[in-house]
Amino acid sequence: MGPDADASTRERSRAVWDEMAAGWEAGREAIWADSRSVGEWLVHKLAPHSGDTVLELAAGVGDTGFVAAHLVGETGCVLISDFAPAMVAAASRRATELGIKNAEFRVLDAERMDLPTDSVDGVICRWGYMLMVNPGAAFAETRRVLRPGGRLAFSVWAGPEYNPWASLISRILVTRGDMAPPDPTAPGIFALTDPDRLRAFVTGAGFTTPEIEEVSTRRRFADFDAYWRYLTELAGAISPVLRGLSGKEQTAVQEQLREAAAPFAVEGAYDIPGLCLNAVTY
Ligand SMILES: C[S@@+](CC[C@H](N)C(=O)[O-])C[C@H]1O[C@@H](n2cnc3c(N)ncnc32)[C@H](O)[C@@H]1O
Repeated sequence: MGPDADASTRERSRAVWDEMAAGWEAGREAIWADSRSVGEWLVHKLAPHSGDTVLELAAGVGDTGFVAAHLVGETGCVLISDFAPAMVAAASRRATELGIKNAEFRVLDAERMDLPTDSVDGVICRWGYMLMVNPGAAFAETRRVLRPGGRLAFSVWAGPEYNPWASLISRILVTRGDMAPPDPTAPGIFALTDPDRLRAFVTGAGFTTPEIEEVSTRRRFADFDAYWRYLTELAGAISPVLRGLSGKEQTAVQEQLREAAAPFAVEGAYDIPGLCLNAVTY
């Protein structure tokens, strides 16, 4: 991709995520209940000290950063950031609700951070790097803003075979011709599933070889409508494709998805497994 194509991909992605923010804010409790093991792993491995400044990148509504906020205490600070302004606004509202006083909020593109060199003690990023147009640039920027020895703890998704909550619908849309087959090197949920490629990005940016651990998660939906709402209102790349289909086409896709997701249905609800690659480096 050239610089113009990169810029337009980035702008499209930011607009999509800005639109998804309302759904993430409304659904945050359920998302956190299903995924706190992933966020808590990251904060545990980051192991921030009281008084530290921790930066959260691609923070969405900020739940992982809020866990870190408790550990850095009154003398520390968590800088919650995302490139989608509506996500940052939602995170800030949530912090007010929770009474969190040691968090700051910033609209920040992780690939080009408007932050000084060596200015933070730790960085967390849950489910962000694989969505970035140039993950190498984002890891290099992360290394630049981290003080020497400062840790980075991050999570990306493992392969589609381990994440049917996302891959069932993608497969249906690709087979129907509604979506191009995913390019494994282009930004997307499954862009950093190969541990060797992930390690190369991380060490190429000047970090140590990361410790990588598989961490399980789940996606639970009360019924098929809740699953469908999640896909149309919260799922970054999928949602615009689904919304672009006619009512008749949507019904056809729903039928195929019901059939594909049947193995995960439990008395009308859905309980679908997921797997993340969590990593820590410095
Ligand atoms: C799947 S959501 C994850 C949100 C949150 N980290 C969580 O775990 O709940 C991905 C987030 O990455 C953000 N994002 C994508 N590309 C970004 C970039 N280049 N810089 C900063 N944020 C980015 C999106 O706006 C979105 O909020």
